[in-house]
Amino acid sequence: MPEISRVGVLGCGLMGSGIAQAAATAGFSTLVRDVEDGLLARGEDAIQRSLGKLVEKGKLDPVSSRRALERLTFTTELGALAECDLIIEAITEDLGLKNELWRALDDLCPADTIFASNTSSLSIGAMAAATLRPDRFVGLHFFNPVPLMPLVEVVRAVTTSPQVFERAMGFARRLGKEPIAAHDRSGFVVNRLLVPFLLDAVRALEQGVASAADIDRGMHLGCGHPMGPLLLLDFVGLDTVNRIAEIMFDEYREARYAPPPLLRRLVAAGFHGRKSGRGFYDYASDPPAPIDPGL
Ligand code: CAA
Ligand code: NAD
Repeated sequence: MPEISRVGVLGCGLMGSGIAQAAATAGFSTLVRDVEDGLLARGEDAIQRSLGKLVEKGKLDPVSSRRALERLTFTTELGALAECDLIIEAITEDLGLKNELWRALDDLCPADTIFASNTSSLSIGAMAAATLRPDRFVGLHFFNPVPLMPLVEVVRAVTTSPQVFERAMGFARRLGKEPIAAHDRSGFVVNRLLVPFLLDAVRALEQGVASAADIDRGMHLGCGHPMGPLLLLDFVGLDTVNRIAEIMFDEYREARYAPPPLLRRLVAAGFHGRKSGRGFYDYASDPPAPIDPGL
């Protein structure tokens, strides 16, 4: 198995752009693929702004920031990823879409390329089984915002080889992250605990327990959370959390994972959170104003 020097990232949204930034900053030649140039441009802009903030705060020197940008390439061509030693997928949380990509890449990439998914809730084993390299398939689950959050869950499917698992742990450390090992259970460690909490906050709002602002203030001031759960839902993306909840509910059949009707209604209306400008809050104003969910 070759050393990892070239990293491919699939998807240049919230997570893909952050993962690409982390890989490029750590010295890896990084190729990012999304389906449209406009989406790549938006992701590149987010990376530039994030690097700029880190430089401004003295957390990164300007030379390292410039070198990181030089190590990044953006493409819509899937075939370009055939040169990568490790490919990390961060596209929409949908098993059909992900497996379609994995099958295509399995044909394009050399046999020793390692495949990794950043999925929040899907089975790593179900993706590994769609390829002819189930032993070289692993989960690398990053946290949002990737440049600031130190954790990576490294997920071992039943088929993942011990060498590939160790290679993935080593890669996370080379990014300056702290890896923890998790088995292939929907939601792994963090989302298994976090998702029911976020959904309960929506149910509390739905049941009229308190306003959105007071639910968030409660958890911020009462429990020391950096942001309240409804603000965090907006930050992660309501569409993404809704998909994660559906997948986890399907897996465990426990009511605590069921997406509440209010969450479904907001997603159907295009309120996807901060990335779409509106979710539980409206981001047209600073600070964002709670929306009236029509209760
Ligand atoms: N890149 C670089 N710097 C950034 C940044 C980014 N993307 N985003 C924020 N910053 C910097 C800011 O410039 C600021 O710097 P200083 O402290 O030096 O001034 C600092 O981070 C704090 O930012 P803000 O003042 O804007 O806001 P904040 O104090 O609320 O911090 C936060 C932002 C780090 C996101 C913090 O609110 C936080 O930790 N929130 C919780 C995030 C969380 O729980 N993430 C996990 C989500 S779940 C998940 O990811 C898994 C899944 O599968 C869904
Ligand atoms: P996002 O909606 O911000 O970005 C997804 C990107 O994938 C979009 O730019 C989309 O155009 C692109 N995409 C779709 N199909 C593609 C394809 N065939 N090839 C290349 N790109 C394609 O979503 P996100 O929040 O970045 O989530 C991505 C993945 O990361 C999901 O699996 C999600 O569960 C997981 N995740 C999300 C978070 C979070 O906080 N948002 C945290 C950890 C893990």
